[in-house]
Amino acid sequence: DTTREITLTVNGTERTFDIEPQTLLVHALRDELGYTGSKVGCESSLCGACTIHVDGRAVKSCTLLAVRYDGAEITTVEGLADGEDLHPLQQAFQEEHGLQCGYCTPGMMLTALSLLEDNPDPTRSEIRDALKGNVCRCTGYHNIVDAVERAGELMAAGEPELSGA
Ligand code: FES
Ligand code: FES
Repeated sequence: DTTREITLTVNGTERTFDIEPQTLLVHALRDELGYTGSKVGCESSLCGACTIHVDGRAVKSCTLLAVRYDGAEITTVEGLADGEDLHPLQQAFQEEHGLQCGYCTPGMMLTALSLLEDNPDPTRSEIRDALKGNVCRCTGYHNIVDAVERAGELMAAGEPELSGA
């Protein structure tokens, strides 16, 4: 038996489980823990579909070995909403039509969240720069930039209340 036991705190819930040493973090989250919001695209750190937060920082989870993150605090897209209340990013992507197929959206939101935490009032070019590691095949990015700008406004206005994630 080569499995190892690790503990991850995902969206505030501590989960202890066994995984193979070669299991990638995105697969641990999706297949072992059921957090399927994070998507798998390129599996080579290029598209950003798998972006999550690990210990408060946006990372692409498709090339990280889960065993190396024993004890980490993870936020996935499932952790953004506060019950029935959408996170400002979710509200803004909806209002500004920042998604079509939605495949890139969870990763876009987690990358944008890092940006807005560091820089609550980014310029459009700062938004484009922050999102350059996240690929969208559908929208042409314009509406995504609108959505991130709008999310910054909503977050600054403090409504709805941010989830503790
Ligand atoms: Fe991870 Fe593309 S699936 S960056
Ligand atoms: Fe389809 Fe971005 S909405 S890839």
